[in-house]
Amino acid sequence: MEEDLDLLQEATQEAEAAEDSHSLYEVKMKFLGRTGKVTALLKGMKELAQEARPAFGKKVNALREALEEKFAALEEKIKAKELQKKLKSEDVDVTMPGRKHREGTLHPVTRVKDQLIDLFAGMGFEVFEGPEIESDYYNFTALNTPADHPARDMQDTFYLTEKFLLRTQTSAGQIRVMEKKKPPIKILSPGRVFRSDDDATHSPMFHQMEGLVVDRHITLCDLQGMLDEFAKKMFSETSKTRLRPSYFPFTEPSVEVDVSCASCGGKGCPLCKGTGWIEVLGAGMVNRKVLENCGVDPDEYSGFAFGMGIERIAMLKYGINNIKLLTENDVRFLEQFKD
Ligand code: PHE
Repeated sequence: MEEDLDLLQEATQEAEAAEDSHSLYEVKMKFLGRTGKVTALLKGMKELAQEARPAFGKKVNALREALEEKFAALEEKIKAKELQKKLKSEDVDVTMPGRKHREGTLHPVTRVKDQLIDLFAGMGFEVFEGPEIESDYYNFTALNTPADHPARDMQDTFYLTEKFLLRTQTSAGQIRVMEKKKPPIKILSPGRVFRSDDDATHSPMFHQMEGLVVDRHITLCDLQGMLDEFAKKMFSETSKTRLRPSYFPFTEPSVEVDVSCASCGGKGCPLCKGTGWIEVLGAGMVNRKVLENCGVDPDEYSGFAFGMGIERIAMLKYGINNIKLLTENDVRFLEQFKD
């Protein structure tokens, strides 16, 4: 049993070989733990002769103390080493350039739509949004465009079924509003519309902004006054408007509205094709038949309506020459529209 007291060397050797605090702990348990070798020595003491016990016990205690000291010192060393390693792995190089987050911008169509809503809300218009899938009735028939009407050819329609289609114009919303609400009516109806049409200035999906005012004594002068205000706020303080006779089945009389060219001030340039004017929207006095279709008495009430292409306004305002740029989502293009 005496030779067992030589455990100090064995334990020291193993402890010093431990590479981390976990394996050091295991070595410690192997010698000093409840079932460890040193503890076993103490337990074995009862097999010794009575008189040999005190001396033996003293030696074992000395051994235990020596080992405890040894382990404590090693533990401290290993913990310090481990802390250094951890700190190093969490090192932050404050001189490294940060990761940049690109700031998004509002799409030009959204910008123009928001500007239009702001502008007309200031004149007392409320926003109404109709459905993109419409019935033939709301998109055409109720707007005085029955099935055999030649004006249906003005718009190449995407039919979903015989009865349902992708709306070709936000004018469908006029009917929905007049069916539900009694005059006075003053609504603005933005939204997507769809036509089978595709070139540099036409896209099969685009956005329109519809306006509708119905009340007593509404005249074409009210329409032009309001459009002048719109042109000044949207394009330039010096912008003027002019009305040209046109045709829409749901308005009578119908007009095409031109705005003086903001790029040349009306003198004539490539943008306005030398005319000094740019066509921006269709409008007119709501046709009596449309009022009747919605249960509004045309002898008591009159109204005007207008519809403009939001992409077209955006293209004129920002000098965009191809409508496709508005759907390609090229960040280099979109990034240019910042406040
Ligand atoms: N809906 C017509 C179009 O899409 C525009 C318009 C709206 C004309 C309201 C007159 C009145 O071409």
